[in-house]
Amino acid sequence: MLETLKETVSWLKPQIPEDAKIGIILGTGLGDLADNITDRKEIPYEKIPNFPVSTVAGHQGNLIVGKLGGKTVLAMQGRFHYYEGYDMKQVTYPVRVMQLLGIEYLFISNAAGGMNGSFEIGDIMMIEDHINLFPEHPLRGKNWEELGVRFPDMSDAYSKKLREMAVAIAKKNSIKLQYGVYVGIQGPTFETPAEYYFFKIIGGDAIGMSTVPEVIVARHGGMKVLAFSVITDLGVYGKVVEVSHEDVQKAAQEAQPKLAFLMEEVIKQL
Ligand code: HPA
Repeated sequence: MLETLKETVSWLKPQIPEDAKIGIILGTGLGDLADNITDRKEIPYEKIPNFPVSTVAGHQGNLIVGKLGGKTVLAMQGRFHYYEGYDMKQVTYPVRVMQLLGIEYLFISNAAGGMNGSFEIGDIMMIEDHINLFPEHPLRGKNWEELGVRFPDMSDAYSKKLREMAVAIAKKNSIKLQYGVYVGIQGPTFETPAEYYFFKIIGGDAIGMSTVPEVIVARHGGMKVLAFSVITDLGVYGKVVEVSHEDVQKAAQEAQPKLAFLMEEVIKQL
């Protein structure tokens, strides 16, 4: 795995400014933040050696290098989901690449179902913690000490410092922010009403099919993480209605200017 990674990184390195410290992964229907990146270079995933390729509608597949909030950023427009058939090493491959390129901060967005009764569609939830229910762990197998320790600590998975910055910015700009625990599941089915209820009882506020593996690998690699869910549908027991991928995309698209603003403001302050 290390050799493969090094090949990718040495191909990318000459195209990435050395001061790039911020990585961004954009979720379903949330790729437009990348449009605010200036002085940009777009690198299609299919051009990058050993990079997986995105297959789902609404997921673009570009690595974008440029400036956002006055900082050099490396943004993934489109991510790899476990339900697409990738294994966890592939799902998290771009995070490893970012790590070896010197990225220190990782910003993540996703679309998620809300299970907390006080959430509404279109809300932004800042992820405070997660529950990992994926059937495969991205760090299973041989541990490469040069990438991180065998048993990584996860007590500050979502950086308290970055969260405090986001809360202050949201308050100052009257952006409504919800807070909670994200449950990561493999999908691709949305949940049954009983499942939503179960995931709420075990401590979840929102549920989705991404983010957790990326955060685990980012923490293993020593990055600081800030992540947000856009609540695109509600899995509140007794009120569960039909949901489609199109509903999710539409709700995410409507909320994304607010989230883009919030992320950019945090980046400015780094
Ligand atoms: N469940 C799982 N994943 C999701 C949902 C959901 O309700 N909404 C968006 N992604």
